[in-house]
Amino acid sequence: MSSMNEYLREVFKWNQEMRDFLESENIDGNNELWQKLNSLTNVMDRMDQPLNTDELGSLSEKVEEIHEEMEAYFNERLQLGAIYANETSVPAGKHVLPPLPYGYNALEPYISEEIMRLHHDKHHKAYVDGLNKAEDALERARATGDFSLVKHWSRELAFHGSGHYLHTIFWNNMSPEGGGKPSGALLAQIKKYFGSYEQFKKHFTEAAKEVEGVGWAILVWSPRSRHLEILQSERHQLLTQWDTIPLLVLDVWEHAYYLQYQNKRADYIDNWWKIVNWKDVETRFQHAGELKWKPV
Ligand SMILES: [Fe+2]
Repeated sequence: MSSMNEYLREVFKWNQEMRDFLESENIDGNNELWQKLNSLTNVMDRMDQPLNTDELGSLSEKVEEIHEEMEAYFNERLQLGAIYANETSVPAGKHVLPPLPYGYNALEPYISEEIMRLHHDKHHKAYVDGLNKAEDALERARATGDFSLVKHWSRELAFHGSGHYLHTIFWNNMSPEGGGKPSGALLAQIKKYFGSYEQFKKHFTEAAKEVEGVGWAILVWSPRSRHLEILQSERHQLLTQWDTIPLLVLDVWEHAYYLQYQNKRADYIDNWWKIVNWKDVETRFQHAGELKWKPV
């Protein structure tokens, strides 16, 4: 009997430690780990008399299960920590054009090889070069104290920086195995804010069609209001809604479709939905969701 009491004391203590830990991690109350821990706490709160063998067995099973999940969580955190610790930053002027995550012809027939070569090798490359040039120039300005051209280089920094970062997201936002619908937490948020996936898709499509001149349609997550939003970006260095994280971006600059679709931007957008890489958007959403600021 005394060893059972000791075991229960240990479980009580461990349960409290895990609750404190999850709280310190700011983990959402709807998270599976919280739900399991809460159900264990409920069982333990009801234990005002000695347990029989069956009850003890089911309790230790529950503990074992949560223990395993906690271990998986810790391992994931350790791996993430190790990845971030080893990750180097990009020094000023040292951006490189990332290769496409698939072949140039992989998105055919929806986006032709010719467009992909031109778009990636020429347009995206020009943004990388322009960003490097602006960063180098601003580094020189800091070294010499001559900031007479700071306005020009700041604009270049925004224009080419947005171009480089958005295109990098855009390539990964698409996949030859794409299409279909999102799932899980992202789908739940889409339904919560836009009403349904169909309403979201219609809103995003209309926003993309109606971008004035050149620009992007962008699905973002706002860590402050804690909901998704769809934005238009006319000329990507302008009208940026700061404090948001792009999750899904659609390039509606003419260079992205004109060779193949001419002025039929709507056809390009309709076909683009068939190659959306929702797995990538879900991963971006999951990481973005870890950021939380005080809601106002
Ligand atoms: Fe582009």
